[in-house]
Parts: sequence; structure tokens; C-alpha cells
Amino acid sequence: MALIQTDNTATVGKIKRVKTGIKGLDELLSGGIPKESITLVSGPPGSGKSIFCYQFIAKGVQEGNKCLYLTLDKKIEGLLLQAGELGMNFQPAIESGQVKFLFLNINKKLIYETMVNEILSGNYDRVVLDSITPLSEMPIYINNPEFTSEADNIDHDEISTGTFPVRRLHLHYIMNALETSKCTAVVTSELPSGSTNYSRDGLSEFLADGVIILSLDPTMDRRKLAVMKMRSTKHTLKPQNIEIGKGGMQII
Ligand SMILES: Nc1ncnc2c1ncn2[C@@H]1O[C@H](COP(=O)(O)OP(=O)(O)OP(=O)(O)O)[C@@H](O)[C@H]1O
Ligand SMILES: [Mg+2]
Repeated sequence: MALIQTDNTATVGKIKRVKTGIKGLDELLSGGIPKESITLVSGPPGSGKSIFCYQFIAKGVQEGNKCLYLTLDKKIEGLLLQAGELGMNFQPAIESGQVKFLFLNINKKLIYETMVNEILSGNYDRVVLDSITPLSEMPIYINNPEFTSEADNIDHDEISTGTFPVRRLHLHYIMNALETSKCTAVVTSELPSGSTNYSRDGLSEFLADGVIILSLDPTMDRRKLAVMKMRSTKHTLKPQNIEIGKGGMQII
């Protein structure tokens, strides 16, 4: 199928695509992930979720996109250092305002407002949320007007126990903001080794348009990447061998 290059996206048929910047992956996805979609990147610690995100943002910078990196890691310098080690220097793009790294403090009650306001007001092309797991496990504040209308429909006993419907409300809130902003988003999720779900909350995979699983095989000393789901895209489900080195990760 012909691949037509536009400004920042590749188009196959009517679907505009956004390059991840991960060598080998864009080819597997007919040019990239669908524009204005949400892709969940799940994996155990050290599987390369954050590195995936750095590359997604670095590609955005290269293509002139406005990018937001939401992190629950207080040490943004540490992230920048790790990205720098891999050959991605975000400093000039941060200084010019093209890229913003924003720390989300889960101890702050207004964390959702901070996050959603930034997503909706920043006019971002690409947004990363690394990671959704602590947010999906946070208690809900029922006096938040953003939640109240939806929360009226749920059992208030469940709010205090943090059970299933409440967590779903959190996730919907985040995913809705990403959808409304019309950005292309990558959201990471921590996955305990051997989990049969695609995310720790067991729900994000249903709300996302795409799911990519990163895994580790210590016995074989191998890393793998598998595309389990991608809206409007024909793709293999077969796990691909990847390696991490200069430039980030690539399919080998
Ligand atoms: N400069 C580098 N060269 C080669 N491999 C690297 C380099 N930097 C990191 N790695 C590898 O990548 C791993 C970390 O990747 P990353 O931080 O993206 O994982 P993660 O899935 O985000 O982990 P966590 O769940 O702890 O946040 C390291 O454990 C190491 O194996
Ligand atoms: Mg990480």
C-alpha cells in the first residue's frame, strides 16, 4: 500500500499516523500509531516503558510537534539524564517551550485538575503519561465537581473501599481528557511479571486504542515488544525481539 508523507504524519488510506520513532515498530504499524489515539505501553520494571516514551517525544520534537511528558517521578533531572545517556537531549526543546516535563504529585488533591488543565490548555500534539498506575489506584475526592455528576451514579460505599467502579471513574477521567484534547497519547502501565492482564488495573487496555506489551526474558537475556491491539491497523501479534542502546530501543 502506498505511504503518503504529509507534514508530521504518514497517511495510509484515511488514517493519519504518528511515528513512534522506534526503529522497526512504525513499519509494523503501517507507518505509526493512529493520530489522536491513546496507546497503552505496559510492562514490568525495567522493560523500557520510559525509554519508549522518551523516543516518542524525541520523534515529536524532530517533527516540530508540541509535546507534554507527565511523570510521577519527582526527579525530572534523572529522566533527562537517562534520555541523554541514550542520545536524546531534550534541553533545547524544553527551553524553547516545545516540550514540557511536568511532575504530578500524587499527594496533592488537585492532581487531576493540574493534569487535565495542562492537557486541555496546552494544545499538545503528543502527550505521555508515565505512568497511569499510581493514578488509577488513588482515592477519589467526591467533592470534585468534575467527578460529581458521574459519581452520583455509583454506590458511595464503594468510594471508600476503592473498588472497581471507582477506579474506572479515575481512568475514564484521564482518558476523556486525552481524547478531548485531540493529542496522540502514550500511557504507560506497570505490569507484574507473569500477569495475564495488559495493565495492572485490568481496565486501561479496554479504554486505550492500542496496547503494546514490553517483556523481559532473563533466561534468554532477551527483551521483547508485542503489539496486542491497535485501532484501524493490521499488525502481527508476534512478540518482536528488541534491544536498548544508543538512540533508545529498536526492533532487531
Ligand atoms: N544507556 C543505556 N544503555 C543500554 N540500556 C539501558 C540504558 N539505559 C537504560 N537501559 C536499560 O533500560 C532499562 C530501564 O528502562 P526504563 O527506565 O525505560 O524501564 P521502565 O519500564 O520504565 O521501568 P520502571 O517500571 O522501573 O519505570 C534499564 O533497566 C536498562 O536495562
Ligand atoms: Mg519508567
